[in-house]
Amino acid sequence: MEQTLVILKPNAVQRELIGNLISRFEQRGLKITAMKLCIISTETAERHYREHLGEAFYEGLISFITSGPSVIIVLESLAAVNIVRSMVGATNPADAAPGTIRGDYATSPGHNMIHASDSTESALREIELFFSPDEIMSYKLSVRPWL
Ligand code: RTP
Ligand code: MG
Repeated sequence: MEQTLVILKPNAVQRELIGNLISRFEQRGLKITAMKLCIISTETAERHYREHLGEAFYEGLISFITSGPSVIIVLESLAAVNIVRSMVGATNPADAAPGTIRGDYATSPGHNMIHASDSTESALREIELFFSPDEIMSYKLSVRPWL
């Protein structure tokens, strides 16, 4: 099984779409193994988005992602990274297909609602950044064999 990290960004929380977005992942068959609501610190945001340091959008990205509560979630399934990225859609919502989260709920790249890890390496790094090992739950869902 593979794990990936999702962040429901501050505008998803403000727009009261937490339940709606989590439902999509549950319905697809992803298991929630860790979850919390928190305001991401500037230090954590800078570590999370370190590959974008120096980009024109970097300062705005850090200030937005730290501007209010976000929901941080670890999701688990076969091929979780690719499945969740495909559900999230293109970075720029203008390019995101209808049916994806960004294609259904967003219009601007700066407020694209949600983050998802882009590789298994990123997922491991990001999960470790936001959760300690004891916060990640290991449990069985009886529906698993049917997925
Ligand atoms: P994320 O990391 O948030 O899941 O998004 P992503 O992989 O689809 O896109 P990435 O290239 O990692 O960019 C991180 C976030 O920076 C903002 N961004 N704005 N041209 C722009 O104005 C621009 N490009 C990127 C977006 O909020 C993007 O999610
Ligand atoms: Mg990214």
